[in-house]
Amino acid sequence: MGDKQGGEAPGRVSEVDRDNDNAREPRPRKATQLVHAGRADPRTVSSPVFHASTVLFDSYAQLREREADPNDRRYMYYGRRGTPTTVALEDAICALDDAVGAVLTPSGVASITDILSCFLRPGDHLLMTDNCYGPTRGFCQSLLAKRGIETTFYDPLIGAQIDKKIRSNTRMVFMESPGSATFEIQDIPAITAIAKRRGVLTAVDNTWATPLLFNPLEHGVDLAMQSGTKYLNGHADCLFGVTTTRDPQLYTRLRRYTLGTGSHLAPDDAHLALRGLRTLGARLPVHERGAVSVARWLEKQARVTRLLHPAWASCPGHEVFRRDFKGASGLFGFVLEVGDEAGLASFVDALTLFGLGFSWGGFESLCLPMDRERDTPSIPLKPGEALIRLHVGLEDPQDLIDDLRRGFSALDA
Ligand SMILES: Cc1ncc(COP(=O)(O)O)c(C=O)c1O
Repeated sequence: MGDKQGGEAPGRVSEVDRDNDNAREPRPRKATQLVHAGRADPRTVSSPVFHASTVLFDSYAQLREREADPNDRRYMYYGRRGTPTTVALEDAICALDDAVGAVLTPSGVASITDILSCFLRPGDHLLMTDNCYGPTRGFCQSLLAKRGIETTFYDPLIGAQIDKKIRSNTRMVFMESPGSATFEIQDIPAITAIAKRRGVLTAVDNTWATPLLFNPLEHGVDLAMQSGTKYLNGHADCLFGVTTTRDPQLYTRLRRYTLGTGSHLAPDDAHLALRGLRTLGARLPVHERGAVSVARWLEKQARVTRLLHPAWASCPGHEVFRRDFKGASGLFGFVLEVGDEAGLASFVDALTLFGLGFSWGGFESLCLPMDRERDTPSIPLKPGEALIRLHVGLEDPQDLIDDLRRGFSALDA
């Protein structure tokens, strides 16, 4: 392997609140907030699930009073506007992000498309990072284009040079860091500072890091979204998305927009999301340690020509990762000499612990060969090479390494 570099010291999630240590009256640390923030009913540890469409009012006066402000989450009004279960989830995520508001959606894609649809108008120009999640790119190229909103895809490593890309009609810079297919780490503070100076909104897909490892709002980003389907839920059993902000006006606009489109997170999914969130602080360091162990083993394999793990110098933007992130999660990529499609198939099909499937962030390990055309435009692949993405779950890393060994043996056979 070309760039050699040991992984970052694992388990740095525990450093998340080091700035808090000397405060006179310290706020609860993030791991504690994850456990305690957002309780629908103080009588039960786990928030009850409210299955509700119709809400009954005591009187006509109460009906009128509650109608007045759709953002007022103190009262139930109608199931689509929220229930104590969804409010508890929003409160817990706000505590995690130090946000003024959290807007829930039924999927991560819905959060992305809601941000873009809510804040962009025909004639606006969008700067979208070139390493964005595939469906994000698709939405820009299809629906946004049809609405007369032009997108420029910019180099994720552009940093302060974003200044040169901003036009008079540029309304938003959207970031994703690290990119979930090619893992470039963006200089979010530099991009955000320029965008602020130029009066341009900023938004980021922060699914890889979660606010425990990198909180975009602390770096001035206006809107931070995550596919909660991944680490927040952590159990691969529900889909949801969430956007947080520290700006009350942006929150109100986005909340009204999602209410207006009829978007809503179903109560059982909100419950699963909240249940998963409680253990995020415990899970993330295990994902990090497992992924670092697996990556250290992979980099010694002759057929592995490049490691795309943010904690390795071979990952574009690694120095920004070292500066800004509190640790790594469990998703990374590597370039493998497979020879041909049959070689790739033999590697993947020999794995028994790594499941073959989309998504990531759950307790289980997954392996996904990335699509050369669709997913890897920024990573030059030689003929016979494939980019493989691993999500390292909570299994014993040694067993995962043994599983990968099976894949390498099948490839060499
Ligand atoms: C980086 C990233 N953002 C957003 C999404 C979309 O999330 P969801 O599947 O919840 O719609 C994904 C899904 O894989 C993702 O990897």
